[in-house]
Amino acid sequence: MVDLLGEAQWRMVELLLGGGWAVPLPGGREAERVRANSGLTEVTALRYLEPLRAGGSLPGVVETDDLGTYVVKFSGAAQGRKALVAEVVTAELGRRLGLPVPEMVLVRFDPEVAVHEPDPEVQDLLRASAGLNLGMDFLPGARDFAPGVVRDVDVSPAEAGRIVWFDALVGNVDRTVHSPNLMVWHQRLWLIDHGAALIFHHRWSGAAEAVGRKYPMSEHALGGYSPDVAGADRALAPLVTVDLLREVTELVPDEWLEPEPGLDTPELQRAAYVSHLAARAGRSAEWLPDCFATPEELAEREARRTAASLAGRPAWLQHVRG
Ligand SMILES: Nc1ncnc2c1ncn2[C@@H]1O[C@H](COP(=O)(O)OP(=O)(O)O)[C@@H](O)[C@H]1O
Ligand SMILES: [Mg+2]
Repeated sequence: MVDLLGEAQWRMVELLLGGGWAVPLPGGREAERVRANSGLTEVTALRYLEPLRAGGSLPGVVETDDLGTYVVKFSGAAQGRKALVAEVVTAELGRRLGLPVPEMVLVRFDPEVAVHEPDPEVQDLLRASAGLNLGMDFLPGARDFAPGVVRDVDVSPAEAGRIVWFDALVGNVDRTVHSPNLMVWHQRLWLIDHGAALIFHHRWSGAAEAVGRKYPMSEHALGGYSPDVAGADRALAPLVTVDLLREVTELVPDEWLEPEPGLDTPELQRAAYVSHLAARAGRSAEWLPDCFATPEELAEREARRTAASLAGRPAWLQHVRG
């Protein structure tokens, strides 16, 4: 079982022994960042701090043997390993296109480090997640972005355009006014949560038809910031090359690329992601988002949704809000 000493105590051990970080950390691993096969750095979880319950996948805040704190997306989550593949490919592509995304690592996780966690739902998730998971650098003090709240951050049309364009490229329909998946940190926006992107990989047999597909973006979280999508297209589309996509897909560990009919090796799968996204970048004229809901339209749609959900309830529940 892994010892639950905190970072400060390990530093104290180090000082007392008078050495550098040669002191073996729990699990027999030295506190150095190990370059994993996939090219992402691999670290080991030492301590599970808390679950994050804002979204649906129950990520957890975890301390690791590189003295880092990461938000970990677990391989045993209901969203499955494809959500982790989508996170790696999409977030890394975004970073290489100049968008701000937290650094990613692979987190080797032993459920023993979370024996103190009381919630049985979290325990089930962690027990199903022994092995490799995905970590994103925890942004201390960051807040969830709320569209339209001016004190949050200034968002220029150019920046909004780049983010909207990128989401349209990777088919990320989970950055809406209802679920922005953007954080504000050091007065700028950071992109998180790309597990719902690359929708096409849930049905490879239909992926070819999805190359030019226009995904619904009208409720995008930045639709109200006059996104300059055409400018972003001119600047970013030429950067999405086969070489760049190869580099990005190389970062996905083989074990997350589970065999599919016709794509039974990790290499074939990587090639399929590369050719799909490269072709899609070349056909942006077909999928460029061009209209965004106005605040009035959003309010009206919201009112309709609420009315529909109320109508589906029994009479005694109709007056309860939410
Ligand atoms: N890198 C991060 N740093 C700080 N907080 C984060 C980070 N990533 C996620 N969070 C917090 O956790 C919440 C859920 O994370 P998210 O990636 O959106 O997971 P889910 O798949 O559950 O929606 C976010 O809304 C945010 O409040
Ligand atoms: Mg989320």
